[in-house]
Amino acid sequence: MFHGKPVIGICNTWSELTPCNAHFRDLAEAVKRGVLEAGGFPVEFPVMSLGETLMKPTAMLFRNLASMDVEESIRANPIDGVILLCGCDKTTPALVMGAASVDLPTIVVSGGPMLTGKYRGRDIGTSDLWRFSEDARKGLMTEEELNLAEAGMCRSAGHCAVMGTASSMASMVESLGITLPGNAAIPAADSARKVLAQLSGRRIVELVREDVKLSDVLTRPAFENAIRVNAAIGGSTNFAIHLMAIAGRVEVELSLDDFDRFSRDIPLVANLQPSGQYFMEDLYYAGGLPAVMHAIESYLHTDTLTVNGKTVGDNISGCESLNPAVISSVSAPFNPVSGMVVLRGNLCENGAVLKPSAATPSLMQHTGKAVVFENIEEYRQRIDDPDLNVDASSVLVLKNVGPRGYPGMPEVGNMGIPKKLLDQGVTDMVRISDGRMSGTGFGTVVLHVSPEAAAGGNLALVESGDLIELDVAQRRLQLLVDDDELERRRQAFQPEPERFTRGYAKLYVEQVEQAHLGADFGFLKGSSGSEVSRDSH
Ligand code: FES
Repeated sequence: MFHGKPVIGICNTWSELTPCNAHFRDLAEAVKRGVLEAGGFPVEFPVMSLGETLMKPTAMLFRNLASMDVEESIRANPIDGVILLCGCDKTTPALVMGAASVDLPTIVVSGGPMLTGKYRGRDIGTSDLWRFSEDARKGLMTEEELNLAEAGMCRSAGHCAVMGTASSMASMVESLGITLPGNAAIPAADSARKVLAQLSGRRIVELVREDVKLSDVLTRPAFENAIRVNAAIGGSTNFAIHLMAIAGRVEVELSLDDFDRFSRDIPLVANLQPSGQYFMEDLYYAGGLPAVMHAIESYLHTDTLTVNGKTVGDNISGCESLNPAVISSVSAPFNPVSGMVVLRGNLCENGAVLKPSAATPSLMQHTGKAVVFENIEEYRQRIDDPDLNVDASSVLVLKNVGPRGYPGMPEVGNMGIPKKLLDQGVTDMVRISDGRMSGTGFGTVVLHVSPEAAAGGNLALVESGDLIELDVAQRRLQLLVDDDELERRRQAFQPEPERFTRGYAKLYVEQVEQAHLGADFGFLKGSSGSEVSRDSH
């Protein structure tokens, strides 16, 4: 049956432990139909699935491991081209990173977002759950109401329905050109999702015959396009870490500063939660990502190749917004502020990021006294302590939640506001950490501080009561402590004891790079190609 035909691997992250990807067996069947129609031979294979909701200590710890599984599964088997079935947050970067290090013809098919959630007659999504859980802490909502809201949020198969990390990743792969047009926004429950999967199955067979490899599409201009699109949609801050890790695999030069540089002049065109009002389903009805890209066409490299064999310009031609309330224009944007700000200063010598569209404008220039939590356990113990020495002008600092420190860089950077301030009506504070924030999160939150505390960055030296200055316009994050005092503290600094003496966590802590480089393992950068010889690969 396979003789003389392109063999197409369907790399499947289906798992009952990853609810966002639980419909992927059906999706794989649609891909297979397309492969067979085009004269290829489909073979489905499983790889490690990374579910955001259940994995401990954080799914991010396993992104690099899953990428190794993907890379070696593709290379070790007789496969000519690959379809990557991705959904929940980390599954997309993990699969693209692994496939990029093999560099066969490759197309991504995302699982699609859930239908918009409903609770008591209103539209809700994951970002509302953050607000609801704060309401529950304040006693404004009962436990039962919170559970009902959570159940109403998950109405169908698919990943989170806001512009969180999963939707940002689905948009990233579409704007990079490694999906068919329209991939990002089609709801998982819409039959158009299966049509897209089937068409991708057909197209991958042609892509093998045309010998178009992943690296032919993943060029520097394609990465610049992805950064600009992520700004226009108000995408997740996690995007920076994952895009840099992917760039490292295809050896495209990309630095943290590129994210500021290429998003600085892009307005927020899409009005989507958590930066705006609407949901992925609304984005689909308004024209999807092609309409967003059409709106910012003048900022894009329109001559870049995509996997359907056409350029970005061809794909978005005529794709006007069908609903300006959801997809606005550059001349009348939903918000002139978008993108990702890259901060520098003695508190983040290799950089830190902040998402201005999710922050409070009045806090963008702020100096306040630090309230320091040495680790997540101390934070949980003290945050609601009525005696915590904190007021609305304080700056919350959380250490040891970076790639090495936690390990795995969990999404705790948008730490909750102290209960006694919540009771006073405080809704936002400046918060700083070496961790990440959920793409569904919001607030004036400085993330990805590099070097992290566990790597001996100055973040490790901050003490409660120190003044910290945040100046977003100047891209500055400064610990207002003089150098002599910092040096004295550095000499006295004792890192947290190493907790992992074996297994993958030990390998991770030893090998993971800092956030400003994408938190990949240094030894995984680049590609080993698809050829396997007896001696090496
Ligand atoms: Fe999977 Fe949000 S939990 S995408």
